[in-house]
Amino acid sequence: MKFVNSYKDKMRKYNEEHNLTYYIDTMGCQMNENDSLKYAGILEGMGFKKGNEDTANVYVFNTCCVRENAENTLFGRLGMLKRRKINNEEIYIAIVGCMTQQEHILEKIKKSYRFVDIVLGTSCMSIFPEKLYDTIVNDKKKIEYIDVSNNLEEDVPIVYEDKYKASVSIIYGCNNFCTYCIVPYVRGRERSRKPEDIINDVKRLAKEGYKEIMLLGQNVNSYGNDFEEKYTFPMLLKDLEKVEGIEIIRFMSPHPKDFKDDLIEVIKNSKKVARQIHLPLQSGNTEILKKMNRRYTKEEYIDLALKLKEIPDISLSTDIIVGFPNETEEQFLDTLDVVRKVEFDQIYMFIYSKRTGTIAAKMEDEVTYDEKVDRLERLKKLYEETLPKLNAKMIGKEYKLLVEGKSKNNNKLYTGRTSQNKVVVFEATNNDVGKVVNVKIDSEHLWYLKGSIVR
Ligand code: 5AD
Ligand code: SF4
Repeated sequence: MKFVNSYKDKMRKYNEEHNLTYYIDTMGCQMNENDSLKYAGILEGMGFKKGNEDTANVYVFNTCCVRENAENTLFGRLGMLKRRKINNEEIYIAIVGCMTQQEHILEKIKKSYRFVDIVLGTSCMSIFPEKLYDTIVNDKKKIEYIDVSNNLEEDVPIVYEDKYKASVSIIYGCNNFCTYCIVPYVRGRERSRKPEDIINDVKRLAKEGYKEIMLLGQNVNSYGNDFEEKYTFPMLLKDLEKVEGIEIIRFMSPHPKDFKDDLIEVIKNSKKVARQIHLPLQSGNTEILKKMNRRYTKEEYIDLALKLKEIPDISLSTDIIVGFPNETEEQFLDTLDVVRKVEFDQIYMFIYSKRTGTIAAKMEDEVTYDEKVDRLERLKKLYEETLPKLNAKMIGKEYKLLVEGKSKNNNKLYTGRTSQNKVVVFEATNNDVGKVVNVKIDSEHLWYLKGSIVR
């Protein structure tokens, strides 16, 4: 469905007199961050200017229900905005995204947060301009649940904050129903964007000077499964590789069960696909993986990871959940075993937490919270012991990277990420920013590397 904003001109006119500002509060994953850039695009097209957290007129909460504490964060922040509503300040509040797809949240908003003006689910961008216009100009507010979560919206304007790196969604939704995960319930079924729409987006980005793209999807290697004609994720990568100007292509996340040899071949032969693969493990124990409905075994995962590691200079990152319902000590030790064998460059670690509506939420769980925390700490320790060794392998070698800007911690140094997604700091000049340069690695410092530009 093509995105049409028929409220753009009317709202712009209104804003010429009222000069309203907006602020977007984003929770959660990169898909949500990408959605927020689209909300910014819609709002700027309607004449709203970017404002700040304390004084903005239009607030958009782009919510998440995967991250723990997201609910408390949202309701805490809403509580703070209530005062501005009571003081009759000109402020409008919209809640969008994953959380609003959950009935108990919607009920809570309706009951206790009646000052909220707009509540929309995921994939509701086409409805947003109308709702916003109605709220602001016609003084109509509506809290309702609109289920268009299986919608696929094209041509939504987007405002990137970064000048050289951009994310591009290629597939929405998920069909996998991992038992702990709420995503399939709130983001609907898999919908792949047409290859030509993605390729045109990337060509436009290249023309605008973008050098690096991140392809996004809950499961990128399901891309194309919903097409009649065969067109797969590896085929898309090959086509995007041809776009001149784009130098680095990243993607996240692939599912290990769908990671086939054709994809490995494309990565291996590509000059642009980053030497970094995010391969969510979740657990290293086959029994737990089965209970999670991940559809691979410990051995299959290790085989795949080690096959990927044969690609020169590749780095692997992963997601791991500790303390899945009734996970035993032995089962957890399998996770540590995989971590030891694979040697990940980056691990996003989570303590299992219940998501209402999922299958795992109904599973019995006797593992205490303290045990779960202890497992997380042990996993962290093992990871931090491995990392220096992996980093040290990079010392003395040269890597291509995009100079992103000044380092936040040291004003005299500049920073960028290698294809392996390792942060490197080095001496450079403002002229180098936005350029792809070669950097030789001099030393490792756990979370970053130091290097020097090879001129
Ligand atoms: N509890 C803990 N971690 C979870 N994740 C998803 N759902 C849950 C949950 N209920 C983690 C998974 C996923 C990442 C984005 O969040 O590791 O890959
Ligand atoms: Fe959630 Fe599994 Fe889908 Fe990832 S693949 S979004 S973990 S259901």
